[in-house]
Amino acid sequence: MDVPPKTGDTRALPGHVAIIMDGNGRWATKRSLPRIAGHKRGINSVRKITRHAKARGVKHLTLFAFSTENWLRPKEEVHGLFDLFRYYMRRECRTLAREGVRIRFIGDSSEMPDDIQSMMVEAEDMTAAGDTMTLIVALNYGSRAEIVTATQRLAAKVAAGEMAAEAIDDTMISAELNTSDFPDPDLIIRTSGEQRLSNFLLWQAAYSEFLFVDRHWPDFDEQSFDECLELYCQRDRRFGGLRKSG
Ligand code: IPE
Ligand code: IPE
Ligand code: MG
Repeated sequence: MDVPPKTGDTRALPGHVAIIMDGNGRWATKRSLPRIAGHKRGINSVRKITRHAKARGVKHLTLFAFSTENWLRPKEEVHGLFDLFRYYMRRECRTLAREGVRIRFIGDSSEMPDDIQSMMVEAEDMTAAGDTMTLIVALNYGSRAEIVTATQRLAAKVAAGEMAAEAIDDTMISAELNTSDFPDPDLIIRTSGEQRLSNFLLWQAAYSEFLFVDRHWPDFDEQSFDECLELYCQRDRRFGGLRKSG
């Protein structure tokens, strides 16, 4: 199981993969099903890809589950999504803990329903010892809001005379973000063909590689993930320099 994909390429696999799980609604509409059926099917992909990413040796997997802008959707869809989240957490937490997967959340949990907030805390506690992979779930996450909060915190420290404005650097800003405990994503995948970030990890994506996959999230499987890994391995990450790896 724990074998790297056959890439014929010795370049490093991504340590942190972040996925914008898009296209659930279109998947369902194409089949004349209600949109929520697509979200439900999307949970299967979450399970499959989490397990598979771990088997491939990915250390951090971030999944964009609900954005700060997704509140704009009809109430029934938002409630449906939250119900599915409850269902997923109830069924999956123990398994993740057993498999050594640590779960962490990013985003503003304070706007989530109370029972979901409790589930989030419980899940983080229950899986805290997991050391094979960290599954980061972006729930009510918006990168601009995250950057605004970070800026406010730093500004408050300056106003309080705790530090000079000039002392603010990259590291300090990164340390104020929801993602302070995690490395930046090496690879960002978006399913369903859209080619945009939709307010996801704007700061953290400075040097990420991007892959836009023409498949809806419910159809994204282990093979699709391996294809992404292969494409990633062919990229030459230069970080502004002239280094040619491999
Ligand atoms: C992604 O699928 C899931 C969430 C945003 C919660 P969408 O619901 O955005 O599906 P499309 O893009 O409408 O097909
Ligand atoms: C981004 O998808 C958010 C998630 C996948 C959770 P959206 O479907 O909300 O993005 P837009 O509206 O197409 O940009
Ligand atoms: Mg969408």
